Amino acid sequence: MKILIIGGGGREHALAWKIAQSPKVTALFCAPGNPGTAQVAINLDIPADDIDRLLVFALEQSIDLTVVGPEQPLVLGLADWFQDNDLKVFGPSAKAAQLEGSKAFSKDLMQKYGIPTAAYAAFDNADAARAYLKGKGPQVVKADGLAAGKGVFVCADEAEAAEAIGQIMKDKIFGESGNRIIIEERLQGQEVSLLAFTDGISVLPMEAAQDHKPAFDGDTGPNTGGMGAYSPALIFTPEFKQEVIQRVLVPAVNGMRAEGIPYQGVLYAGLMITDKGPMTLEFNARFGDPETQPLMMRMQSDIVPILEACADGTLDTCSLEWKPEAAVCVVMASEGYPGAYEKGRPIQGLEQANALSGVTVFHAGTKQQGEHIVTSGGRVLGVTALGGTVQKAIATAYQAVGKIQWPGAHYRTDIGQKAL
Ligand code: AMP
Ligand code: GLY
Repeated sequence: MKILIIGGGGREHALAWKIAQSPKVTALFCAPGNPGTAQVAINLDIPADDIDRLLVFALEQSIDLTVVGPEQPLVLGLADWFQDNDLKVFGPSAKAAQLEGSKAFSKDLMQKYGIPTAAYAAFDNADAARAYLKGKGPQVVKADGLAAGKGVFVCADEAEAAEAIGQIMKDKIFGESGNRIIIEERLQGQEVSLLAFTDGISVLPMEAAQDHKPAFDGDTGPNTGGMGAYSPALIFTPEFKQEVIQRVLVPAVNGMRAEGIPYQGVLYAGLMITDKGPMTLEFNARFGDPETQPLMMRMQSDIVPILEACADGTLDTCSLEWKPEAAVCVVMASEGYPGAYEKGRPIQGLEQANALSGVTVFHAGTKQQGEHIVTSGGRVLGVTALGGTVQKAIATAYQAVGKIQWPGAHYRTDIGQKAL
């Protein structure tokens, strides 16, 4: 099979690394990829959101399966275009990707199908939104559309929430994505996520993984795309996992089908474990980054038949096996991330880190510059290790991190501690 992966971050390197191990694969391409994917695939100089050029390439090469990493091409309709041209895609249609692309769509679906989530209201008028805050407890204000993971303000009081409404709706800090907002009750609890494969009918859950969103140790500092992840997440007892599957994932997939918008691909549920049970914060229409890095290292089964079955509607015939080991991914980021940062700093020690037993260094924001690999993004590397226990995986991952340097490299030192 000829496979094309769309995207160029750590998630896509992990997917490429796993897909390349499949005996079914005869050629693997990644658009645009990064120096990490170049080790296992042929990188294409086509941006992930240039659907026209991606389609031309896929038709010319007779690509058998296209696997979409990021949300943007999905929301832009990549899957629709490819399917109209008889090309097989793993990932939802533009309409189905609204589950991530519009928070109002997603909350309405949750409400209609009884999926547990915080009480909310949607507004397209700032005055009405401010009036709604009166007499309410702490609220969270969210831009409806995509905002590169930054569109959510967790507010302490009414004044903060009113300020957030102004920034999103009046100052338009997220552009058109802020034409509409969601205001919802602020929840307390531990955040976890559960990802599942689905073909629109069957749901095949993955092992649980836990992300670390705040930039600094002890979950302090600004939110990021994710500073590290580990799997398994022990908080997911078999009973709790079943509860999330039955109360969140299955009703979401059934609800989308009932709406006439069948959902195919990865369904990612972001959850808060509250004293009232699991509450759904959001759905994503794709694999998580960095959750995918430890998940791919732990996946025992060939992933390619699963991806194909999602696209073909035959997922009921599939099962998934996982390695019993734990995996931990520590993200190494640029100085200043998630704020402004410099690029082009040469990275040392990649080979020494990769040489450690059980370690794979996934590239995210890197670039080849002559002989050197240099930094080119906020999240630069996902240093990932397998270990007999979470503790051992943590120790190995940090041993590998210790071998890698560039000026200003920054990472959390407590990834995985929550699992202990
Ligand atoms: P979202 O993109 O909707 O998942 O929101 C991003 C982050 O904001 C989440 O990972 C949470 O940390 C936080 N968040 C979102 N909704 C709530 C809520 N209702 N209560 C508390 N925190 C929230
Ligand atoms: N790690 C969070 C996400 O991929 O959305």
